[in-house]
Amino acid sequence: MCGIIACIGSDDAVGELLTGLENLEYRGYDSAGIAVQNGHGIAVRKKAGKISELKGAIAADVPDGSVGIGHTRWSTHGPPTDENAHPHTSQSEGVAVVHNGIIENYEVVRSRLMEEGYVFTSETDTEVIPHLIDHYMDQGDDVETAFERAIDDLDGSYAVALMVDGTDTVYAARQDSPLVVGVDDSGPETRYYLASDVPAFLEFTDRVMYLEDGDVARVTTDGIDVHDADGPVQRPIETVEWNAEETGKGQYEHYMLKEIHTQPEALRGTLSGRIEDGDVTLEEFPEGTFEGIEQVHLVACGTSFHAAKCGARQLVRAGIPASTFRASEYHDLQPVDERTLVVAVTQSGETADTLSALRRAEEAGASTVALTNVVGSTVSREADDTLYIRAGPEIGVAATKTFTSQVAALTLLTHRLAADLERGTVREDAAEFLAELEALPDRIEDLLGRTRASDVSESNMGRDAYFFIGRDFEYPVALEGALKFKEITYEHAEGFASGELKHGPLALVTPDATIFALLTGDRGEETRKNAEEARTRGARVIAVAPEGMDVGEMADDVLRVPDTHPDLAGLLANVQLQLVSYHTAYGLGREIDKPRNLAKSVTVE
Ligand code: M6R
Repeated sequence: MCGIIACIGSDDAVGELLTGLENLEYRGYDSAGIAVQNGHGIAVRKKAGKISELKGAIAADVPDGSVGIGHTRWSTHGPPTDENAHPHTSQSEGVAVVHNGIIENYEVVRSRLMEEGYVFTSETDTEVIPHLIDHYMDQGDDVETAFERAIDDLDGSYAVALMVDGTDTVYAARQDSPLVVGVDDSGPETRYYLASDVPAFLEFTDRVMYLEDGDVARVTTDGIDVHDADGPVQRPIETVEWNAEETGKGQYEHYMLKEIHTQPEALRGTLSGRIEDGDVTLEEFPEGTFEGIEQVHLVACGTSFHAAKCGARQLVRAGIPASTFRASEYHDLQPVDERTLVVAVTQSGETADTLSALRRAEEAGASTVALTNVVGSTVSREADDTLYIRAGPEIGVAATKTFTSQVAALTLLTHRLAADLERGTVREDAAEFLAELEALPDRIEDLLGRTRASDVSESNMGRDAYFFIGRDFEYPVALEGALKFKEITYEHAEGFASGELKHGPLALVTPDATIFALLTGDRGEETRKNAEEARTRGARVIAVAPEGMDVGEMADDVLRVPDTHPDLAGLLANVQLQLVSYHTAYGLGREIDKPRNLAKSVTVE
């Protein structure tokens, strides 16, 4: 949801900004822009469209400089045009600003400034920031004071970076939008980066400082000063474990394909050191962490919501009352108090809807756990405790490996809660189940080595609609299969609980529809009957079935899933569905890693 980058002390600011923007493009791709200092004022270049468009536009006239800021946009206020692209400059062109977030009171501020004679050249909320800074500088403030006063005037969320003509300084501030600092002290001169996310500058440094809400930073080649409302603060510099290779596409044509194929590795990362002698050890939760907990709420959006549904089902099976909520709907639905554990499931850890559900839960006195992939993300800093899924960076907008890792991490958390809570019961087949969980990466490898998803996709192109049905753990997998399919193919797809088909959706089933029927798990036989009902109405049925199941005449084609524990088979079925979505989108020539209208990290409500 917009990506910002800044570099300070660089030999090639434009090159580094463009690299950073490409690494951040998963956050938005409606327009892109940069501004650099080149000794003759601030040079701004911006363009509607992807970063490749911007690169093309500046190729013949690349401004040089050692300090710069950049932005890749996911439009909220104003369509994706050159004028609305960031950076935005003040009237005097003395400052340039990039912003991620939403300024909620921008209309009021804009009217006030227009009355004073400021002329706006874009429809964005962001443009009020440079004009406000100009306004305060006209009143005699120095730039730092003007920046702080401008920030104080804003309601809403922001990560802002500001460049000032004639200086090598970049100012930055954050409130409810992520902002990290990269510190490359490997050479004779230290170089600094500011960005919405670590992968932006991972090619240059893995040393990171996470800014907190309310922080204002001043970055020059001489160092970085951070303060909040109470005065100067020290933020530690940490070394992150991800490396630039992990964030590249490697041998794959798309990030999504890479991320599907690296699921075994991601899952090993999730499980590593957490299962010992047939038991689950989660060192992140010292003894007593869950004392007094009587119910669990899982809040999440999109794919993470589907993973949360798998988690809730496991918790309920273990005797623990558990419910899932779409984070954007977590309003006064259920009593929440200190006996409630609220688990915020979010890959990015920055999803605005999930963060606001978490904050609501915290206000009501609940205990909270963040289940996330991104170290240092906002959710991890705001929740009481964090369980990292350790799947490695996921760049494709369509979440794939992180779904698998989220479900695995929730499986471990369930085991721990079943053991810790009074009303919990550890499953009788725990040893066998956990052994199968540990073997799951191998099963995925096996599946990936002999999947027929590409052929199946080819023979199902051009259908009117695609439905995904399943029961039990396979129900959230059906929802996830449909979400992935619609997200990257733009075809009409829906997921249903297979038992629900006859209560309405069957009316949509025609000979031009394809139904993916998930026959794995304990209730696969029941889904098989529902799939037969659809086939009788002429639909084409693709069975996603365990190795040994004879699907006979009920299916037009079959995708096989290696044998595993029935409660884990849905995860394997999901890998087949991920591949079907990928190959269908590929066949249709879609922008697989950057589906239209979407962004990886949704930081607005
Ligand atoms: O970062 P999060 O897990 O909180 O993101 C939640 C959703 O925005 C995300 O899962 C979205 O649905 C994906 N693009 C689905 O592939």
